[in-house]
Amino acid sequence: MHISPYTVDEIRNRVDIEDVVSDYVSLKRKGKDMWGCCPFHNEKTPSFHVRPDQGFYKCFGCGKGGDGITFIMELEGLGYTEALKHLAKRYGIEIEEEELTPEQEEAHSERESLYILLNFASDYFRDLLWKQEEGMKFGLSYFRERGFSDETIRNFDLGYSLDKWDAFIIEAKKKGFNPEFIEKAGLQAEKDGKIYDRFRGRVIFPIHNTMGKVIAFTARTLKTLTKAPKYVNSPETEVFHKGKILYGLYQAKQAIRQEDNCYLVEGQTDVISLHQAGIHNVVASSGTALTDDQIKLISRFTKNITVLFDGDEAGIKASLRGIDMILEGDMNVKVVAFPEGDDPDSYAAKVGPTDLVKFLQQTAKDFIKFKVELYAEEANKDPLKKAESIKEIVNSISKIPDPVKRTVYLKECSKLLDIGEPVLITELNKIILTANRKKLRKDKPAFLPEEILQVPEAESSIKLNLDEIIHLQEKESIRLLMNYADQMLEGTGYDLKVVEYFFREIDDGTFTHPLYKQVFDEFKVAISDETIPDSKHFLHHKNESIRNLAIELMSRKYEISDNWEKKYHILVSQEEDLLKSASYTNIMRLKFRIVQKMIRSNMAEMKEETPDLQEKYLKKHQQLKKIEMGIAEVLGNVTV
Ligand code: GTP
Ligand code: MN
Repeated sequence: MHISPYTVDEIRNRVDIEDVVSDYVSLKRKGKDMWGCCPFHNEKTPSFHVRPDQGFYKCFGCGKGGDGITFIMELEGLGYTEALKHLAKRYGIEIEEEELTPEQEEAHSERESLYILLNFASDYFRDLLWKQEEGMKFGLSYFRERGFSDETIRNFDLGYSLDKWDAFIIEAKKKGFNPEFIEKAGLQAEKDGKIYDRFRGRVIFPIHNTMGKVIAFTARTLKTLTKAPKYVNSPETEVFHKGKILYGLYQAKQAIRQEDNCYLVEGQTDVISLHQAGIHNVVASSGTALTDDQIKLISRFTKNITVLFDGDEAGIKASLRGIDMILEGDMNVKVVAFPEGDDPDSYAAKVGPTDLVKFLQQTAKDFIKFKVELYAEEANKDPLKKAESIKEIVNSISKIPDPVKRTVYLKECSKLLDIGEPVLITELNKIILTANRKKLRKDKPAFLPEEILQVPEAESSIKLNLDEIIHLQEKESIRLLMNYADQMLEGTGYDLKVVEYFFREIDDGTFTHPLYKQVFDEFKVAISDETIPDSKHFLHHKNESIRNLAIELMSRKYEISDNWEKKYHILVSQEEDLLKSASYTNIMRLKFRIVQKMIRSNMAEMKEETPDLQEKYLKKHQQLKKIEMGIAEVLGNVTV
């Protein structure tokens, strides 16, 4: 379904952020704003802030922020269109569909038909398990013997498929389902021209998508002496792409967000057993290697993954490579290795829920540290292997996008492996450079790794700081503008609005930060049209960076303190009262820093010149110094 732009607008206009958030969070009103405990991370004191008048939310604990639509996307783990549909339903808005091409129309209705059929199949298998003799005797008793409680069996919609050639196919046809769809849904298989139930004589694990729709099945044989594969999965279909789903995510998503961590296991039975042991934030990659899409899926809910391994050392080493990909997704990865011979499921059955939870908590180890330790032992014995191990580990570290994190890991690694940090840094830079060169050939623009760019020279680091300070001052200007642009500066002797004041005092081209400059320019354009952009303009800006900036700057960050309740009004009205001096100081500070920067670059230019040409730079230097002192004096007298 394609939602028409008209409907999108209607939904956008109707969405009431307070209303939407209140479905999930209990909010308390404080003045114009609402506060509550953040649903995206665990907290006891409220740092989640909703501004109904502006239509956005922002959490000062975890930094999440956005409008009503992003709230639903984040919380329900939905895509944009899905979130719109969810809200349309919530507000009883009829969705007007965009004209679809006949092919689109067909693809869409085909998918719908598959969902209906798969849902029917799931119900059918479930009923066999609970109500039918063969199902109960073989299926239900199998699950119970494995230690699954009835509640667990129901929670995961487990089922049973009769040990007959085509019991399901016959039933589906009887219910009027088109045989073509039975094939397209992956419910049948074919051998030597004979068509039969794909999952016959097996227990059934339905696979749900994030919304809870059944999209596929995985089925386990009950026979021990058989050549047949232990597990049979649905093939790829119109609605099931194995690399894009995670088993158990639908049942786990709430808990993943709450715990801010996702356990990743290999098999369906591991998911179910952990769930039953009270660990609900668990998903499985279903025996296949983890994909990029699956990592993205998890990262909608948390940035922390704990991978649970079973198997021997060689097996673990092989699987460790797959984890580099998780690091690339900027996730924090921990790992737990189960004792040899046990998987999470068998271990849970062996030790029971309490000890399992304890085991996970005590054994979970940061991935890099785990990897270092795994390699350190053999590396310290065999110097030849040492170089190999270092490469292996540094390679993982190179995958981490955050340079600060990389540095921390290098330090740690240097300690654990007893190798000088410079050696590791050199190795790391080599890997990053090679990777970048490859990337450069493939796509532009490339970036240089920050470690290499950072020249630890005194002069340049001072320059950098000054630029940063200027950026901060620019940001403060933008904050004042976004919040108070159209307020009058009372009692100043000028009959001016804040925005007019800023434009009188600050020239074109003053702003150095591209994003702040863009916002500033938008104010400028708007002002020449005699309209002042209101907060909505930036909160719903098409540029995501601007949207996020607006959310950050319009949130009342500074009021969060232990007694924010008391302080709340005072602070806001204070800032409004002090608007004139706030604007003035901000402008002056910005000018002050800019002058300092000019002084520095003037000095630098002077040094390049021959002595006979230095005269004019000296003159300029004196002028600038005068201005600097003048501003400093003014700033000294201003009190905020
Ligand atoms: P149980 O034996 O029922 O406890 O399952 P398990 O999860 O311990 O199975 P195992 O460790 O043998 O395999 C791990 C995962 O790999 C399974 O959960 C399946 O998703 C997948 N898998 C195992 N065997 C097969 C198979 O024969 N075919 C396919 N397609 N997948 C399999
Ligand atoms: Mn097992």
